[in-house]
Amino acid sequence: MVISRIEDLARTRGVDCEVILVGSAARGTWLSGDHDLDIFIGVSEGSSLLPALEIARCVSPKFEERYAEHAYVHAIFEGFELDIVPCYLVETASKILSAVDRTPFHNRYVSRKIKGLEDDVLLLKQFMKGIGVYGSELKVGGFSGYLAELLVIRYGSFLGVMEKAAIWRPGEMIDLEDHSSLDHEDPLVMVDPVDPGRNVAAALTLDKMFQFVAASRLFFEVPDLEFFFPSPIQPLSDQEILEHIAKRKSTLILLEFAAPDLVEDVVFPQLRKAEQSIRALFDRNCFLVLRSDADWHRGVSPELCDMGGSENSELCGVIRMLFELEVASLPRIERRVGPPVWAAEHAKKFVSSHLEPLSGPYVEDGQLVVEVARKFVEASELLRSQMTSLSLGRHLGPELRRGYKIYLGQEILEIRDLEFRVFMARYFSARQKVC
Ligand code: CTP
Ligand code: MG
Repeated sequence: MVISRIEDLARTRGVDCEVILVGSAARGTWLSGDHDLDIFIGVSEGSSLLPALEIARCVSPKFEERYAEHAYVHAIFEGFELDIVPCYLVETASKILSAVDRTPFHNRYVSRKIKGLEDDVLLLKQFMKGIGVYGSELKVGGFSGYLAELLVIRYGSFLGVMEKAAIWRPGEMIDLEDHSSLDHEDPLVMVDPVDPGRNVAAALTLDKMFQFVAASRLFFEVPDLEFFFPSPIQPLSDQEILEHIAKRKSTLILLEFAAPDLVEDVVFPQLRKAEQSIRALFDRNCFLVLRSDADWHRGVSPELCDMGGSENSELCGVIRMLFELEVASLPRIERRVGPPVWAAEHAKKFVSSHLEPLSGPYVEDGQLVVEVARKFVEASELLRSQMTSLSLGRHLGPELRRGYKIYLGQEILEIRDLEFRVFMARYFSARQKVC
């Protein structure tokens, strides 16, 4: 199989290395049809990773190079997706040169402790996947496979984990080897049993942690198969979207632009940041935001053609950000409260900077007040005019400045893309399995 193929390649090239199957596939905790097989090519400290990378490139003609802390190869071989990762073989996990060097240590630790508990890990991973909290990638901010394994090792079984999780509080700490060497601020701390300074759960967000907690509690009341295999969410029809809009009587503003040609772990943090900047813009200007969401839709939508987006937008799809506003239009008149009258200098400045107010200046509670004409009375106008001056992330900013489209209210019906219709269904329902 593929391991011996890589070993052969190394031998013919005279490269001294160790080829190791790591990750869930090596431990019998792999959810088939999901994620990749992880194969590491370990070389000794002080040598170069390059020969190992060259071997990785030759494993299969179907491959692409990807970058985490350093380059690795993602290949398709005999129907399997493989991550082939060069790494250094170091003495202990605290002497690693990059995060991937830790993985062989994880592999040894878990392999020793997991015997007989594999099915419990699979149940836990499937449960987490079913409720949407599995995966430590930044898009999800959930539980990694390794974290799920350590939880089962700690609590002895799937049900054991669920029972203990049901009473977790923020700041929960688990230290299997009792060797923690650093304080962490994270909502869940799982001290890495092979590296006392690292929190295995560092990527887990407070919300994903407590979605899991709330679902664990509910599971004991209603142990339904739905937790593991939820029915797929159906895309909303035009009629259904119109009904939701009519019931909510809020205003939806959707911003759409071409996605950059980058990996999710780079795009998602910027996407959240851009979402927050736009929310803050609305809030500052008295347009109240009820909720917002953002996602990356890969299906190609016809709107793109008019958007002048990036050249490879056909491949990369579009980013969509949805804002639901409680207040989307405001009266032209706006109150501006100034300094107290006794701050003479400031008071004078305030009056001279509002020379032609619609009303005022007058004194109220000791302070100066004027009523002036608001610049933007529609939230969508405000967004359009401020878009280029917002901080929208290093890569998303330029992409947005190249072109974007805003849909207001029912105009979102123009978007036929099924991925978007599922996104809307999820947004309107917002239903999680809790309590
Ligand atoms: N790893 C880690 N922390 C993460 C992600 C990965 O320590 N946040 C390490 C673990 O040693 C893990 C290995 O990288 O076993 C492979 O990562 P990945 O394939 O993401 O996890 P698996 O454990 O293989 O789980 P899955 O079944 O989801 O692939
Ligand atoms: Mg894996």
